[in-house]
Amino acid sequence: MKDALRHLDGVLPRFAKISDLAELRAAVEEVGLPAVVKPTGASGSKGIFELRAPEDLDAAMERLSQIARPDFDPVFKQFGAEFIVEEFLEGDELSVEGFVSGGEVHIVTITDKVTSVPFHLELEHKVPSALPADARAEVSATTKDIVGALEFDNCAFHLEAKWGDRGLRFIEIAGRPAGDYIGSHLVPLATGVNYFENVVRVAAGEELRLEHDRQLNAGLRFVLAERAGRFEGADGLEGIGEDPGFDHVFHEVPAGTEVALPPENFGQQRVVAVIARHVTREGLEALLGRVTTEASARISPVDGRAE
Ligand SMILES: Nc1ncnc2c1ncn2[C@@H]1O[C@H](COP(=O)(O)OP(=O)(O)OP(=O)(O)O)[C@@H](O)[C@H]1O
Ligand SMILES: [Mg+2]
Repeated sequence: MKDALRHLDGVLPRFAKISDLAELRAAVEEVGLPAVVKPTGASGSKGIFELRAPEDLDAAMERLSQIARPDFDPVFKQFGAEFIVEEFLEGDELSVEGFVSGGEVHIVTITDKVTSVPFHLELEHKVPSALPADARAEVSATTKDIVGALEFDNCAFHLEAKWGDRGLRFIEIAGRPAGDYIGSHLVPLATGVNYFENVVRVAAGEELRLEHDRQLNAGLRFVLAERAGRFEGADGLEGIGEDPGFDHVFHEVPAGTEVALPPENFGQQRVVAVIARHVTREGLEALLGRVTTEASARISPVDGRAE
């Protein structure tokens, strides 16, 4: 995908494909530090390693050689131990949600994101983005160039990028609906656009219905397990549930599930998702802030393995 976008000046981070430590060392000479090394064929932020100093390279490759195997996660069946090292992109993280129909690119909204430190699990999403109008226009224009260059058509797309001093810098794009409750909940709550109806429409060759009938702010905050062990339930959700600004509380895993944290496991740290909406962005941030301060995961030790 990145090879097909090389002509878009300044949009791609410096990058190289690598498969072992020697290749990573050589690539970092070109790409520079800080950098990120990650599997080419995974998803869900499985195996994202920041490289900040030369000594981080060995540790990251050792971990990645354990992670990028089908017995660790079946997602690695297809590409296995193939990695990409990229210049570390600074800036505000965002995603662009849209559709392409008959070659025409339609942007529904831009989502602001927060990811966890240091493994970059997605932690918070807010729709629409609070970027100023000129920045949003540039994000939209570059997104159209990217979707056009990749010749996506008759599908939804979800593009991930960072916005910084040098404009939009590309992370990845997929010809599929946005996950993480963005398509299912945040877009409809904030804009009135029925996202999944349009996923079906675009697949069936029907006209899209993308008129916004409201201008609200909708957001999601995940509650993370702070340590490995048995998830017993979430505390602090009762008060949150009383407030009309909160639309949904989802349990990502049932109480009683054994959870683990990255880098041992990349798919179990998020235990609860809370969705809120407000007329103002500040109001939405206050609601999501309450999730951070009031809600927490109750974790008990498992057979002496976790503390
Ligand atoms: N070059 C980069 N610079 C800075 N951060 C990066 C870079 N590449 C990836 N990240 C961080 O890691 C996250 C996951 O990376 P990426 O989207 O490439 O992998 P993924 O496995 O598809 O993740 P997901 O399925 O969660 O989207 C990004 O959202 C971003 O926070
Ligand atoms: Mg991604």
